[in-house]
Amino acid sequence: MKPSISVLGMGRMGSALARALLEAGYRTTVWNRTAQKTAPLAALGASVAPSVREAIDAAEIIVVNVSDYGATSALLRGSDVAPGLAGKVIVELTSGTPDGARETSRWAKAQGAGYIDGAILATPDFIGTEAGTILLSGAPELYTGNAEVFRALGGNVQHLGAEPGLANALDSAVLALMWGALFGGLHAIAVAEAEKIDLGELGRQWTATAPVIEGLVGDLIRRSNAGRFASDAETLSSVSPHYGAFQHLKALMQARSIDRTVIDGYDVIFRRAIAAGHLHDDFAALSQFMRAA
Ligand SMILES: NC(=O)c1ccc[n+]([C@@H]2O[C@H](COP(=O)([O-])OP(=O)(O)OC[C@H]3O[C@@H](n4cnc5c(N)ncnc54)[C@H](OP(=O)(O)O)[C@@H]3O)[C@@H](O)[C@H]2O)c1
Repeated sequence: MKPSISVLGMGRMGSALARALLEAGYRTTVWNRTAQKTAPLAALGASVAPSVREAIDAAEIIVVNVSDYGATSALLRGSDVAPGLAGKVIVELTSGTPDGARETSRWAKAQGAGYIDGAILATPDFIGTEAGTILLSGAPELYTGNAEVFRALGGNVQHLGAEPGLANALDSAVLALMWGALFGGLHAIAVAEAEKIDLGELGRQWTATAPVIEGLVGDLIRRSNAGRFASDAETLSSVSPHYGAFQHLKALMQARSIDRTVIDGYDVIFRRAIAAGHLHDDFAALSQFMRAA
């Protein structure tokens, strides 16, 4: 028999999670601090719990999706709520840090609850679809025992391992890739506008060059993993031509008074690597100058 599930948090994401569970035929109870937001889910067949404790009492699996782990603590750790968690499985899908997940996992276990932490790498419209990506970490038996529930939330659900911080850690790494691209987009827009280039044309060139950039990032990750920092026959580009072209971007931005706060940071990393003798090494050599001390 399918387990009963409560979802705490009916923001954009929590509502999408509850909708996907209802569509997959799970008995779903919802709770939200602002009660009106539960109405669309009630219309789809969800039970609405008037309190967090009643939501917990109503289900075997408790999915939490609020704004941050501070909010999760505020919901779960009250003296009226925490005793109800023994024997339940908490699935914490709120975004957070690896340490936040580790601490929440320890706390949940001390209450006698099972704990799986997750990070959602998708917008709400992807939840419940084949392309929905959710990373999970925590007790493997809780993942395998509830694989169907997780599958209902997204076709690309990955269990990374038993260590509860893994999902949030990989989430942050992927977000670093995303913001690299988004801030790169902001620079490109500023440069194009200053040089009176139509942004539609910029968009077309992005589409044309995105596969090249994707290839470079993939190569960077593979080389850093293998520690292949010296230039070799497969090197796509050494530090030297990158730094040369980067000087053109810097000069243009300076000439047009475009904000260089982020670009100056790139320059620091380039110069560190070059000073250490890596001008003619593979671009991947730069990864040694950004690693944790
Ligand atoms: N939206 C996305 O595309 C997306 C993608 C990946 C991950 N996520 C993650 O999913 C989580 C929720 O995001 P969202 O987009 O759904 O945000 P949202 O629409 O702003 O919803 C936030 C939710 O948290 C609740 N909340 C905040 N503080 C609370 C507190 N102290 N006590 C009780 N409830 C509290 C809100 O309740 P009220 O309604 O009462 O304010 C609401 O239900 C975040 O961790 C976010 O990083 C979102």
